[in-house]
Amino acid sequence: MPAGEHDFVVVANRLPVDISVDEEGSLSWERSPGGLVTALAPIMRKNDGAWVGWSGQVDFEHPPFEGEGMKLWPVTLRADEVARYYEGFSNATLWPLYHDVIVPPEFHRTWWNSYAAVNRRFAAAAAEAVAPGGTVWVHDYQLQLVPSVLRLLRPDVRIGFFNHIPFPPVEIFTQLPWRQQVIDGLLGADLVGFQRPGDAANFLRAVRRLTDLQVRGPQVTIPGRWSRPDRTVRAQAFPISIDSESFDQLARKPEVLERAKEIRSEVGNPDVLLLGVDRLDYTKGIRHRLKAFGELLEDGQLRVPEASMVQVASPSRERVDQYRQLRDEVEVTVGRINGDYGTLGRAAVHYLHHSYPMEEMAALFLAADVMLVTSLRDGMNLVAKEYVAARWDLGGALVLSEFTGAADELTHALTINPHDIDGTKATIMRAVGMEPKEARRRMRGLRRRVLEHDVQRWADDFLGYLAMSVPPTTDAGPERPDESGTTQQESS
Ligand code: G6P
Repeated sequence: MPAGEHDFVVVANRLPVDISVDEEGSLSWERSPGGLVTALAPIMRKNDGAWVGWSGQVDFEHPPFEGEGMKLWPVTLRADEVARYYEGFSNATLWPLYHDVIVPPEFHRTWWNSYAAVNRRFAAAAAEAVAPGGTVWVHDYQLQLVPSVLRLLRPDVRIGFFNHIPFPPVEIFTQLPWRQQVIDGLLGADLVGFQRPGDAANFLRAVRRLTDLQVRGPQVTIPGRWSRPDRTVRAQAFPISIDSESFDQLARKPEVLERAKEIRSEVGNPDVLLLGVDRLDYTKGIRHRLKAFGELLEDGQLRVPEASMVQVASPSRERVDQYRQLRDEVEVTVGRINGDYGTLGRAAVHYLHHSYPMEEMAALFLAADVMLVTSLRDGMNLVAKEYVAARWDLGGALVLSEFTGAADELTHALTINPHDIDGTKATIMRAVGMEPKEARRRMRGLRRRVLEHDVQRWADDFLGYLAMSVPPTTDAGPERPDESGTTQQESS
């Protein structure tokens, strides 16, 4: 395959921009919010980078174009592929399977076939984009087959993979009928990164269980064939973070501080403002959080209007059944709590089914006394880190589920098991009544961690390890593919 011209290529399900096309067909775009693109932008500029991804729109077809200081390389998805690869296999099979089967994963062969076909398309685009001896960084569960397909097409490049969500225990992972292909797909990379050491350990256990490859510590050895030497794949944790400094700066802006005051007054200047901010996803434990808050009102431990909760639930994956169901359940629960405990003009829960710009989020974080992160399972949870980065005033308290990746690092938070409603209630009350001195001490500890370990450091760490992997050889012939798109060498 002829080589491309970009020394550094990112491959992710989504492009880092929101694209719109006007009536005359001309294209415009805005950078979508998110730390990944911020962290990678300087590396992209330095290395003539390209970003391969889906626009988010059905049938969007456009040649690669310059934008945001990089080459944006759209991959087209047809309507049936959005339904089978994205909504189906990615978000109704892998997502629940990788998040502790909170809802039952569905297994459909048509979804799998579409997933494999779309993964091959992303790999082909990356292969076309990357320069000889270049580096490709593949992201997340939607694209687990890309590393092995890319290695077949371009054995000369370094390949990194980072899984943004948890990697499940082997007993759960092995439910997947295509578990072997997924493991072979990931083993196409030189470095496979995870959020937590536990995720990396789960992956290595799956490799042991499903292959006869040698696993030593974090390294898997793939035996060479013919003239090709042995190769190693390293699996390791690299906990992702946010652009902490920008968040801290944003939260110091006078207009953001002003807006924080305004928010408090808009919700009736309660003594205690509790806050939840999530994508409307069943992994986030929103129902558990509402249950705990509802019971605190019922017990009289908290009262409206002295206490109030804001729940921002940004719309997500709305065509997937489980998400529609969740929305109904959350909205019924909010209605019930407000009906039971609200007063005229004073809601118990202010529920917002919207996404907001970062400025508004920073103001909300500053306005909130207690941030509630109650995920049942979460790869990292960047909202927790954003809350901490915004609290330069050392105010506020963070209640954090122990089932988030963030809990490994944010040891100064008040941790909860969200399944334990009584425990969660007690911890919320502890946060509400915490002495300011203790609250400040905790926030200082949290901030130290988040400001020192930002997303730039994460990207540098990952790419540093990737650069240390043995340089690929350009002279060896391609590895032979079998029909599933995995290599003979790797599936042996
Ligand atoms: C999680 C995943 C990302 C995904 C995001 C939003 O954070 O790890 O890969 O992009 O959710 O989900 P969506 O389906 O809208 O891309």
